[in-house]
Amino acid sequence: MLPKKAGVLVEVGSGEGQLTVPFADLVPRYKIIALDRFKGAYSGNEAGLLSTIARNGLNARISVVVSDYNAWLTCQRGSKYDGVISSEFLPEITSKRMEHFFAQCHRVTKPGGLRQIRLKSGLVIRSKAARQLLKDWDIRRSYWKLHSGTLEMDGLEIPDWIIVGGIKQP
Ligand SMILES: C[S@@+](CC[C@H](N)C(=O)[O-])C[C@H]1O[C@@H](n2cnc3c(N)ncnc32)[C@H](O)[C@@H]1O
Repeated sequence: MLPKKAGVLVEVGSGEGQLTVPFADLVPRYKIIALDRFKGAYSGNEAGLLSTIARNGLNARISVVVSDYNAWLTCQRGSKYDGVISSEFLPEITSKRMEHFFAQCHRVTKPGGLRQIRLKSGLVIRSKAARQLLKDWDIRRSYWKLHSGTLEMDGLEIPDWIIVGGIKQP
């Protein structure tokens, strides 16, 4: 999805670099700004991210910014980044904030740049957690009663990632 030129990407909610580091390998000509506020349950993850970056020899390509995403994006002037990516970040914000978040991502992205937001569940329908997730998604009880046997027997997977993405139109 990305042009094979050099550029700068922003990753929102990078955590310990679960996406950042493998993604950096896939796009060797890009620099990545890993943005995270590392607060609350995630407060210990900054050290983990910094050591993963160093261990993989990526200090020159990945820079870590500790900030609230909205505060940081708001301060960015113009459309200067080649893309905004994230993994498992959207569940961290309310749907009301999400609309503004997407608008901010669009604003800071260069025309022709990428906006990719990735969510993953990694759940197979057979598991208890998957069943709970489907319940949370309001899968009707009657539907579940009728089809759960087949779905579980086939070991169908709930899509492992949902990719919401797009190229900003020039
Ligand atoms: C579920 S973790 C995902 C970590 C990693 N990207 C992954 O794929 O596993 C969500 C991350 O979003 C960060 N986060 C949550 N709210 C944030 C905010 N308002 N500003 C910046 N980062 C935030 C958390 O600190 C955490 O590292």
